Amino acid sequence: MRFLRKVRVIALAACPLLLVCCLEQYDPSKNNAKFAAEWKQSEQSIPKLTATGEIPAAGGEQKVDAEERYATICANCHGPKGNGDGPGGAALTPKPRNFHDKAWQASVDDARIIKVITKGGASVGLSATMAPWGSVLSPEEIVALMKKVRAFGQQ
Ligand code: HEC
Repeated sequence: MRFLRKVRVIALAACPLLLVCCLEQYDPSKNNAKFAAEWKQSEQSIPKLTATGEIPAAGGEQKVDAEERYATICANCHGPKGNGDGPGGAALTPKPRNFHDKAWQASVDDARIIKVITKGGASVGLSATMAPWGSVLSPEEIVALMKKVRAFGQQ
């Protein structure tokens, strides 16, 4: 009997001790500084909208790869080297623009090239077979493609 009472006393004494230990361990306020830092970091990594209000591509920063875009979209008609001799353009009238044509390069400004790529040939009175790419390409990609078109003119 005396033994049982001893056990009970010890158990009763241990209870508050355990409770204090548990509370101590699970007190979240100790991590407040860490939470605040994580919160700040998560806010920083929220992708910002692009200059034109578009949702940026996954990964925050938009990757602009004009070479890849040109090769997969434009080369089919304008040719891999910009000579206007791509297989997709062979049957077209008028023919896709040859970007090496220096007289044409001199006759258009950058804004016009950007407009044609974004809104299509029809937007400047050209053939509608030059499709609008504004819904497929980002503004940054279109500017990069304009520069690529210009680069062909330098070759
Ligand atoms: C389906 C074929 C086709 C594809 C794909 C195509 N184009 Fe064209 N593009 C044309 C044709 C045809 C013309 C000529 C239109 C005319 O002279 O009336 C043209 C004209 C142009 C011009 C000249 C506009 C001017 O002011 O004379 C530019 C610049 C151009 N394309 C850029 C691009 C770029 C950049 C891409 C890729 C994003 C592209 N094109 C994809 C067919 C195509």
